[in-house]
Amino acid sequence: MSFHPIEQAPARLNRSELAVPGSQPQMFEKAAQSDVDVIFLDLEDAVAPDEKAQARMNIIRALNEVDWNTKTMSVRINGLDTHYMYRDVVDILEQAGERLDLIMIPKVGTAADVYAVDMLATQVEDAVGLKKRVGFEHIIETALGMQNVSQIAAASKRNESLHFGVADYAASMRARTTVIGGVNENYAVLTDPASDGSRQVHWGDMWHSAIATMVVAARANGLRPIDGPFGDFSDPEGYKAAAYRAAVLGCEGKWAIHPSQIALANEVMSPSEAEIEKANRILAAMAEAEAAGKGAVSLDGRLIDYASIRQAEVLVEKAKQIAG
Ligand code: GLV
Ligand code: MG
Repeated sequence: MSFHPIEQAPARLNRSELAVPGSQPQMFEKAAQSDVDVIFLDLEDAVAPDEKAQARMNIIRALNEVDWNTKTMSVRINGLDTHYMYRDVVDILEQAGERLDLIMIPKVGTAADVYAVDMLATQVEDAVGLKKRVGFEHIIETALGMQNVSQIAAASKRNESLHFGVADYAASMRARTTVIGGVNENYAVLTDPASDGSRQVHWGDMWHSAIATMVVAARANGLRPIDGPFGDFSDPEGYKAAAYRAAVLGCEGKWAIHPSQIALANEVMSPSEAEIEKANRILAAMAEAEAAGKGAVSLDGRLIDYASIRQAEVLVEKAKQIAG
């Protein structure tokens, strides 16, 4: 390991994260009773300009009055380029800061953006005597945010997670998309002709590089990498495929923009029984190997070594967190 220590963000289950518009208070109770891990009440893109003030009041009331049980609660504030943002932070922290766990910052572009919200949040918390510090979630969803993702990830002690906001990212990059978080048939490899002349089209994942880049920045700074929205909520298979791709790259959660996506995210982002069993067998085999003075052995015909222990420990730790 490097001599440079990586401080980990507070451990939170973040397999699923439900977006709930602050302008739709009739949805709050159902969200509170769902199986979702994190809820973000939205003041940004799901709320029309004329409804921002009312949505802010709805959120303050709901944070104080709804029984959110053990859910992690977040509020997505408006962007730093709007005149709504300062009041989002001030009013919500002042009036509902006790129950708020996280602030989600959309379209973050530079480390200075994070610094600005940190400064504002600190002033409010100190003024009202809040003991706990609200955490930050950042949506990486612009070319600027992606360019500066490492500095953003390191910009505040409050940082907990990075989220890939594919919808705005596509817009910012002028990328060609058909559905939010979906794939594009034109992002494909055409195989060379086989002996019978036939060729195949292998669709690729146009978001691979962006998600992988964000995962590196998150993990190098002890943060949770989370995959963002999948717009077609009538396509659970497409959702799961996207979630699996993100999970394989290291993401530990995915957004749900519809309640039906919560169970899908929880399923994909939880280790399966078979994976947990295998991880426990690796740990047992390595303990035996170590006792016999060996650093690497084979299990089921495959090499395992100390890196396998670390992978297995991550999995077993995650399973314990879920069980708890
Ligand atoms: C989320 O905010 C997105 O733009 O995908
Ligand atoms: Mg967005």
